[in-house]
Parts: sequence; C-alpha cells; structure tokens
Amino acid sequence: MSATTQVTGSISAPGETDNPTSNPCIMLIFGASGDLTKRLLVPAMYNLACDGLLSDNFAVLGSAMDKLTTEEWRARMNEDIKKFHTRKEFDQAVWDKLVSRFHYIPAGFADLDAFQTLKKKVAELNEQHQAQGNVLFYFATAPRFFGLICDNLNKAGFREGAGWKRIIVEKPFGTDLESALQLNKEILVHWNEDQIYRVDHYLGKETVQNLLTFRFSNGIFEPLWNKNYIDNIQFNVSEAVDAEGRGGYYDQSGVLRDMMQNHMFQMLAYLCMEPPGSFASDSIRNEKAKLLQAVRAYTPEEVEKYVVRGQYGPQVDDTGKVLKPGYRQEKDVNPESKTETYAAARLHIDNWRWEGVPIYLRSGKALWKRGTEIVVEFKKAPEVLFRNTPCQGLGANRLIFHIQPYQGIEIQFQAKIPGPLMKIQPVHMRFGYGDAFKASRYTGYEVMIYSCSLGDGTLFSRGDLVEAAWRIAQPLLDSWKANPADFPNYARSSWGPKAAAELIKRDGRRWHEVVTEEVLKQVDLFKNGDMLFLSQVIMALKPMQTAKGETIIKKGDLGQEMYLIARGEVEILDDSGKVIKTLKDGDFFGEIALLMSTPRTANVRCKSSCDLFVLGKADFCRILHDHQQFAEGVAKIARERYNLKVNASNLIANA
Ligand code: BG6
Repeated sequence: MSATTQVTGSISAPGETDNPTSNPCIMLIFGASGDLTKRLLVPAMYNLACDGLLSDNFAVLGSAMDKLTTEEWRARMNEDIKKFHTRKEFDQAVWDKLVSRFHYIPAGFADLDAFQTLKKKVAELNEQHQAQGNVLFYFATAPRFFGLICDNLNKAGFREGAGWKRIIVEKPFGTDLESALQLNKEILVHWNEDQIYRVDHYLGKETVQNLLTFRFSNGIFEPLWNKNYIDNIQFNVSEAVDAEGRGGYYDQSGVLRDMMQNHMFQMLAYLCMEPPGSFASDSIRNEKAKLLQAVRAYTPEEVEKYVVRGQYGPQVDDTGKVLKPGYRQEKDVNPESKTETYAAARLHIDNWRWEGVPIYLRSGKALWKRGTEIVVEFKKAPEVLFRNTPCQGLGANRLIFHIQPYQGIEIQFQAKIPGPLMKIQPVHMRFGYGDAFKASRYTGYEVMIYSCSLGDGTLFSRGDLVEAAWRIAQPLLDSWKANPADFPNYARSSWGPKAAAELIKRDGRRWHEVVTEEVLKQVDLFKNGDMLFLSQVIMALKPMQTAKGETIIKKGDLGQEMYLIARGEVEILDDSGKVIKTLKDGDFFGEIALLMSTPRTANVRCKSSCDLFVLGKADFCRILHDHQQFAEGVAKIARERYNLKVNASNLIANA
C-alpha cells in the first residue's frame, strides 16, 4: 500500500494552491506523438502548472516511432496546446516554462538501443531537474506493445537506482478475460502490482469521485442504501457521437468492451460497494473488487434473457434519403459488422445488500442526446392512503446523479399542489456543481498524473478489479459471438433498440429518461432559453404512455400541450387518413398549441406504443410568467419561424 493514501482524487478546486505539489519526477511518455498526449496529457500538465500543483522538479521525455527532434516536438505542442487547453485564458508564461522542460527521442518499441538512449537521457534530465530518480512511465500506446515495452525497460536497466518507478497504462486493458490475464502477467514479470496504474478516465471525473463522498460523508442516505428501500438502480451512458472515424478500433471493440466493462462497472462499484474501512487506496479498491466479484456471471440462457444489444443504422429523411451513414457504412468498419454499438443489461448482485434489486445498465453511440446519469429509484409509498382523493397514483422517489454534461445531484419527491384539493405533483431539489463550486476546467487527467506521482492508486484499476470486470463481460462476449445479431436495429439519433425498452418493461419498470437542456434546445421555441428557464420546463414535463393505434391529437380540437417523443413512432395524418409524416424518438410535435389557442390542423396517431413527455400550456405560461424576459423572445420566434402573431403579454397573463 502506498504511503500517501489520503488523496481520493479531489485535488481541490482549480486555482486553489493549498495542496502540495506533485512529487518530483521525469515523465517518460511512450506514444508521445499521438492523440492522447496532445489532447489530454499535455493540457492536463498545463492545468497542473497553472494551478501551482506541478513540481518544479519535473520534466517530460516524449518518445514514439516518429522521427522528430525535441524542437520539432515542442513546435507541435506549441500549436496543439492552443487548440486543446481547457482554460478561459491562455497563460503564455506558464506554458513557456512547461514546454521548455519537454524533450523528445524517437524509439521503436522493439529497439533496445533506443531504450538505452532513453535511459541515458532520463538520467541526464534527472540530474538537471533533481527529480530524485523518480520516473513515471506513461504507456499511451496500443496494449499489444505493453509487454514489449516492459521487457525493454527492464533490459535497459530502468528498474535500477534510487527513486520510485511507476507505470501508467491506458485502456483497453485486454480485449477479454484471457488477454487481460495475459497482459497482467506480462507486466507483472518485471513490475509489482503497486507500481502499475491502470487508467480509467471516468475515475478522474469529479462527479464520479463524488459518489463515494456522497455516500460516506452523509448520514441520511447509507441507512436506505439496500434492498429494503431501493427498488432498482439505472446506469445510463448515452453518447450522441458515432464511431467518429475510430472504426478500426471500435469494430474490434463494441460498447461492452469500450464503455461497460470499464467505465460503467467502475461507477457500479462505487455506487454499490460496502463502506471501506478507510479512504486508503487499497481499502477502497478491496471493496470495489468485492462488489464486482458479487455480480452474477451469466449462463448463455441468462445472457439471452437479461442482455440486449444494438447497432445503429443510417439516419434517413421522409423520402428515404440517407442523411447520415449507419455504423456499417462508417470508415474502417466491416460492411457486415456484427459489432454492437448499444447494449442494455439487467445485472444481479448476489450479496446481502443487493440481492433481488435489479441493476440496469445501458449505453450506446449515435443516440439522440449525450448524457450520463445514475438513477436510484426507491420503493414507492403505499398509495392506499390517497384513495378517495384526486391524487392519481404516486411516483417513486428518485435520487439522480447527473455525471455529465450537466453535473449535479437531484432528489425527486411528491408535493401537494397549492389549492383546496389533495392534488400531487412530482417536484425536485437539485444541487448543481456550477452553482456551488467554481466550474472545473480540468480534463480529468490532471488528477491521474498528480495522484500517481504521490503514489496514490485510488483512482486507478487494480488487476483483480479488471479481472472481475472481464469475468462479468466474458459470457456476453461468448454468447454474442456464438449468436450473431440481426443488425442494424436502431436508427441514428434515436433512443436505441426497442428490445432495450422491452427488457425493463418485462419487470414492470421503465427507463427513467433524463431530459436535458440540450435536448430541449432542439425545439426552436426553447433554443434561446437560459438554464433556469429550461430546467423549469423539464420539471413540468409529464410522462405519458400511449398504445399502438391510439390517437393523440385530433384535428379541430383546441390544443393545450406539446409532446416530446421519448420512445416510439407517431404518424401525422391528413383528412383522408394519408400519412404525411412519421415522427420518432427525439422528435417533437404540437408546440404551436403552447403559443396560440387555434384548432389542431392534423391528426396524430401512434404507429407503435409510445413513451411521451407532455408540456401543458398552463405550465408553460406559468414558467413564462416567472421569466418574462423570455416571453418576448418566444413571441419573436413564433413570428419568424411559425409565421404566428403572438402577444407576449397575453402569454404571461394566461399564467
Ligand atoms: C472512451 C471510449 O473510453 O470513453 C469512447 O473509448 C467514449 O468511445 C469515451 O466516447 C466517453 O468518454 P466521456 O468522458 O466523453 O464520457
């Protein structure tokens, strides 16, 4: 166990300088000419330097196959930092000092002579910067080189001499259980487990680190944190991005390897593990590993029952024209690829605390929004009390951890609507990081470099945890390989395959969809709304489920609400019953009714069963009343986009 065990990743708000600096060291980066170095590592070092957290006894030696000189590498970094730094203002003086400590030597990973040259250079830099013999090796390379680099580091004599030697390795750590075991073996030939720091960049996120703080520094939640009070837990990682030109890598990976086996299982472990004996690194990591070891490894039959997968197809317009390619048409992807870009699963944690509590996970690419949330849904209060009142059923209490892009924590509960009758509405309390703290300007890698230099492994994966995570994923990989799926099965920009909704519906539950400000801004009306306005609109959205064939809007009726499709398809029909347009997940309709009381101009019918969000006019006007500056803007949009004459003060007066 490391000597410095207090740091759990939070290195204070950027800008504060009451923390110790990182330890002296020479950082030797393999893969220094690649993407990770310029996009994340160097901006992270720059952030540490700006915040006074980087030791003065620090230098970087970059290495890669590219035949660059130190001057050429610095010149590249000078360009790249301008693009990738994350601060409002760029501090040239801090950067100049940092980049003057950057050096570069080309080396093939199999070239022992080159490693000997690296060794000499590290020794020289160590002298020059008084780095106490400490060396941090950063493997920003493909995992197939890890073993080779370790061997050559050993042969070149890097393990010898005073000072600590630590290795940071990037994900993916193996591509399945067997390769992960093999990789661990190769690295551990020359290095000890406490010298290996396996990166999972989700552990660098403040909102993820805060899961532990939230659970263990607040007295009111832990007593409820078990099967007696919690009905189910949902982990959702939706990505709007597609394969992003990384088809070559992604097609060998898929969402299970890329997101679930690492990032999502890390969050699962934090949320569900037992309280550690202390916040010491190994104490926390023991509990995390224990938790993942308690997750049931599925039989092929259980995989079939509890897991679904998907792959996105193209986005097409009403005429069938392809607007954006499907996964199989992406660069470097096999045109018949069976790789999953989406997965949803129900997991079982077979221990005393969680037995019987469904743990749902879902993640995918090319979905309609970006958002990572963890929803803890509590058991409902008995409804019988409210019989003979106008209250129509109670919602569940939910505790929602908003990981990104919105960062916050929310509690949902029921409140009485002011008035003479017992009417109830869900409301929420929200804590936003941006309101309470200075917004973080960090990339997530700062804390990795910083805590590794201090010998704190808390934010890194230990070998046993990685293996436990692969043990859960392996049966899924095996079953999927044996039974190729019928892909594609969800459209780009949708909410994913229908099978995912059915998976949870079978248990009598539904995914809790978190509507974000970004999503609302897709509707012209809300484009210019500020955060407060949009967040009030979000709380006013009411879920509604409709059956296939049901009519939602009848032509001629006076509309009083707009609809947002969370899942399903609706058809807009003309007088003769002909379908004019089909709308699906992520689309909106009926928004004009919020502005004007005019009869609906078409019929809208459900093509499939649908999950919808409804925003009523009364709520909309009430919110406008509280945000009068926005009413003028709404009237303007109505004029410009819908050619409607709307009087802003009438809207407010309707409240
Ligand atoms: C990476 C995956 O590990 O995490 C990417 O390889 C994914 O495919 C990314 O997009 C998501 O990270 P974040 O921080 O944007 O949620």
